[in-house]
Amino acid sequence: MTALTLSTAAASGLRVDAIVVGVAKGDKGLVVAPGAEAVDKAYDGKLASVLETLGAAGGEGEVTKLPAPSGFKAPVVLAVGLGALPAKADDGEVYDAESLRRAAGVAARALSGAKKAAFALPVEDAADAGVIAEGALLGAYSFDAYKESAKDPKNGKAPLAEVALLGGKPRDKAYKAEIERATALAEELNRARDLVNTPPNDLNPEAFAAVAQAAGKEHGIKVQVLDEKALVKGGYGGILGVGAGSASGPRLVKLSYTSSKADKHLAFVGKGITYDSGGISLKPAGHNETMKCDMAGAAAVFAAVVTAARLKLDVNVTGWLALAENMPSGSATRPGDVLRMYSGKTVEVLNTDAEGRLVLADALAKASEENPDAIIDVATLTGAMVLALGNRTYGIMANDDAFRTSIHEIAEEVGEPAWPMPLPADLRKGMDSPTADIANMGERMGGGLVAGLFLKEFVGEGITWAHLDIAGPAFNEGGPFGYTPKGGTGSAVRTLVRLAERTAAGDLG
Ligand code: BES
Ligand code: MN
Ligand code: ZN
Repeated sequence: MTALTLSTAAASGLRVDAIVVGVAKGDKGLVVAPGAEAVDKAYDGKLASVLETLGAAGGEGEVTKLPAPSGFKAPVVLAVGLGALPAKADDGEVYDAESLRRAAGVAARALSGAKKAAFALPVEDAADAGVIAEGALLGAYSFDAYKESAKDPKNGKAPLAEVALLGGKPRDKAYKAEIERATALAEELNRARDLVNTPPNDLNPEAFAAVAQAAGKEHGIKVQVLDEKALVKGGYGGILGVGAGSASGPRLVKLSYTSSKADKHLAFVGKGITYDSGGISLKPAGHNETMKCDMAGAAAVFAAVVTAARLKLDVNVTGWLALAENMPSGSATRPGDVLRMYSGKTVEVLNTDAEGRLVLADALAKASEENPDAIIDVATLTGAMVLALGNRTYGIMANDDAFRTSIHEIAEEVGEPAWPMPLPADLRKGMDSPTADIANMGERMGGGLVAGLFLKEFVGEGITWAHLDIAGPAFNEGGPFGYTPKGGTGSAVRTLVRLAERTAAGDLG
C-alpha cells in the first residue's frame, strides 16, 4: 500500500512528482485553500486566476494539473476541488472532514502511476491530517491482482507509492496517533476490498477462513474455524443449509480480540456468501455477475476486528464470519425444505436466494450466547434496500432506537452515508409458515425490513442489536468517486471501527 509520512519540508524543495493543493468554489470564484500559501506565492499570488483560466472552479472531484512554478523541484502542481467554500470561521475556512477525505482520495487516484506526491491541503489540527491520510490511502487503492497487463511497468498505472503530508506536526503525539490510525484502518479496509474483489473461484469459504487464520496469527487475534463436520456437530442448520449445494463447504469463523483494559464487549457478525447464485431459486442472468460481493459484510467485520487489534482498543471485539457458497446442485437445499437452526427454531425455505438471513441467523444466535453488550451484523442482504436507498447509502435497523441513532451518527462522522429504517411488526405475519416456526421470505413490499425482522428473532433476549444492510454501497459498479474505487468499497468498516473506539472510550451506554 501507499506509504504516508508527515513532513515539515517546504514544498519548493521536495523532489516529488506532484504537489497537491486544494481549491474551493467561492461566491466570487475559485479560492486557494490554506496549506498552499507558499505555492501560491511562487506563482506571484496568481494561482487562483491561473487555475480559473484553465477552467477550474473548485468543485468536488475536479482535478487540474499545471506546471509547477519556477524554483520548484517538483514538475507539476495538481489542484483538487474541495467543493463549496465553507462559511468563514474566525481563523480562516474550515473544511469538513468528508470534503478533505474525498479531495485527498481524488488527488491520490489522479496520481496513479506516479511515485511520490506532497499534499499541501488545509491541516488545522491532527484530525484534519488523519482524514487527509485516510482519503489518500483509500483513494490510491486499485485492484490489479488479476491483470497480467498491469504487471508491465510500461503500462505505468501502479498506485501512488508515497505521500508526504505537509502542514502537520510530525513530532506531535496527536498527529502521530492520527496517522497511525489512518494507516492501520486504510490497510485493513483495502484488504477487505481485495477480498470482495477476489473472484469466487479463488475465494471460497475455506480460503476466506485461511485468510482469517493468517491475520489472527499476525495480529494476536484468536481465530476458531468451524468446518462442516463441526457445524453438523453443533447443529448449525442455517449455515449448512445454505452451503449444501456447493462443492466448497461452509465455515463459521470466530475472531476474538481481547484487551485486558476492556469493560465492554462488542460482537460483529458478517454475511459471508462467497458467491450467491441464488441456489435452486437461481438468479437470472444480469443478477449474478457481481455476486462475489456477497461476502462484503464478513470482509467488513474481519477488517474491523483486525483494525481494533492493531489499534489496541480497550474493548473486546468478537467477529463472526458466516461463510458459505450458495449454489444449485443435487445436494442443494430446495424451496420447501425445512431447516433446524442453531437456535432450535425451524425455518421453511421458500426461496433459496434469501440465504443471507439463514447464515446470519445461526451466527447471531451463537454470538448471543456470550451475552455481548451489543451485536452489529453487516450484510449485503436485500435488493429491496438498494431500491429504497440507492447505491451509496446503507440501511440501519435495530431493536433499540438510541443504539440505531448512535450508529447513524457514527456513520455520518466517518463519512459513510447511512439511514435509519424501521422494523414494522405488521410485516412479521408475512413470514408465518404452515409447516415451520418461520419462513425465510415474507411480503415483497418492504423486503429489506422483512429480512431485518427475520434476523431479530435470532438475537438473544435483551441484547442490543443493529443490522446494517449494505447491499447498495458494498460494491461500486459505477466509476470511482472521492476515495471510493470501482468494485469492493469496504463499506461499514469505518462505522464498525469508530463504534469500537467510542465504546472503548466509554462514549456509548
Ligand atoms: N445477496 C442478495 C442481495 C443483494 C442484491 C446484494 C443486490 C447486493 C446487490 C440476497 O441474497 C438476495 O438474493 N436477496 C433476495 C431476497 C428475496 C429472495 C427475498 C432479494 O433481495 O431479491
Ligand atoms: Mn441471495
Ligand atoms: Zn445473498
